[in-house]
Amino acid sequence: MVEINTQTLRFYNYLLLDHPVGKKALNYLTRDRGLKPETIKEFQLGYSPDNSYAMKQFLVTKKKFDARDVEKAGIGIVRGANVYDRFSGRVVFPLFDHRGNPVGFAGRIMPGGREDTAKYINSPETPVYHKSNILYALNITKGLIKKKKIAIVVEGELDAISSYQAGVKNVVAIKGSALTEEQTRLLSRFAPKFILALDSDLAGDAAARRGLSIASKLGVEIKVAKITDYKDPDEAARGNPESYKKDLINAEGVWDYLIDSVFTRNDVDSGAGKAKISKELTPILAEIDDKIVQAHYVNIVARKLGVPLEAVSEQISKVTTEAKPPSLSGTPQTKETSTRRQLLEERLLALAFQTDPKKLLGGDIDGVFDLPLNTRLLEEYKKFAGTKKAFDASAFSEKLPAELFEGFAKMVLLDEREQTADPESLEKELDLVKKELKILRIKENLKALALKMRELEEKGDKDKLLKVQKRFDKMAGSLSVLDEEGSGGIILGEK
Ligand code: CTP
Ligand code: MN
Repeated sequence: MVEINTQTLRFYNYLLLDHPVGKKALNYLTRDRGLKPETIKEFQLGYSPDNSYAMKQFLVTKKKFDARDVEKAGIGIVRGANVYDRFSGRVVFPLFDHRGNPVGFAGRIMPGGREDTAKYINSPETPVYHKSNILYALNITKGLIKKKKIAIVVEGELDAISSYQAGVKNVVAIKGSALTEEQTRLLSRFAPKFILALDSDLAGDAAARRGLSIASKLGVEIKVAKITDYKDPDEAARGNPESYKKDLINAEGVWDYLIDSVFTRNDVDSGAGKAKISKELTPILAEIDDKIVQAHYVNIVARKLGVPLEAVSEQISKVTTEAKPPSLSGTPQTKETSTRRQLLEERLLALAFQTDPKKLLGGDIDGVFDLPLNTRLLEEYKKFAGTKKAFDASAFSEKLPAELFEGFAKMVLLDEREQTADPESLEKELDLVKKELKILRIKENLKALALKMRELEEKGDKDKLLKVQKRFDKMAGSLSVLDEEGSGGIILGEK
């Protein structure tokens, strides 16, 4: 597979740099995105032609790879006699493991390209490509990261490339998702300190929060840089590299950053404001592994709130000892999936009620919800929608049984972060959350089937085992289809 990837990246790279078919893409990268030819060469960027024959001609006819292997490598999709290029019409970023083996690709649509598809698509999981442990650019930058003892962590491929070109060379990109445990472990082998330079929107805030407990556990020091005046590191690095570098130098300790951000978003002088601050901050403070460091921040928070120290520390011990809410679902689930499911389901409802509840009527919503209270709320909404009245939160809530009312009220109450987000990004998030739930459902089913398979294996029931195995494979296939559409982009603020 690495061999197929190597040939493919040379093919794409050649088309971008030396063939008329890649001219528009090359213009896009150099003129619109400000990349120098030597940068394009160093990152081995490419262009995948917008036609349905070139890939097969090159990989199968010329290079004699088996079409099925091309498909297994995640590059082609075999349909009858043809092999379709997954990245067709896109600028491609080859993805390498940290040793420099090409393991997959990311493809970005060209401006004016098909608007109905995702801006980025990635290779599906293959035997060599595992999304959760790829750090983009690490193959190029690991030496400098080691030397500087600091890794700058950015979101996207172009953020990394532009930073690199502007002289911020100890950089890696996490490709739109939160820093995973595997990525943290890998990166911590090269540097004990990370500076997160994420997009200057909410996602960055949530992402900063996401990597925390892992990093804290692994003893990695994390700082967060606020990008001033620009949307993301890419634009900052091109627009004003000096100010971008200053932003990085001024990065704050992650705990200071999170505490500040909670205080700026809430009104510290009112009781209600204090309640919100407490609710957001206690779980964050509870995550600080080192008790001395924790005491330091408890002190700061108590002072900022103007309350006694003990109140804050008591609140923290409450969250750490409090039992997790019991699973509402009938089927027993692991703690992790049940809380994640709950979080996602509630988020989906909240986003729909806040933007356009009619989104809950689509056929693709069926089977997405599982938890009883949420399922019932959806039923109630369907009943309401049947009356053809325009949706009005208070009219709707009046009809709700008491046990649903509270949950609904929580969902329609916008918090300040939401009010400032534009409808488009809320809708984008809604679609992503919906997809995450579909993926979660498939994963839950896969887990159940795996259990079943083990049981049948022990019993020695080969016929049944084979059948279940087939179902498993089919379902796993549908999972990779969903996965490959490129999840990520929006980060859920777990915890
Ligand atoms: N991403 C992804 N799949 C998506 C969207 C985003 O994998 N459907 C990842 C890509 O690695 C991308 C990064 O998330 O580089 C950031 O995405 P986004 O914030 O959408 O990037 P923009 O800055 O809007 O896009 P660009 O700089 O390419 O114009
Ligand atoms: Mn960008």
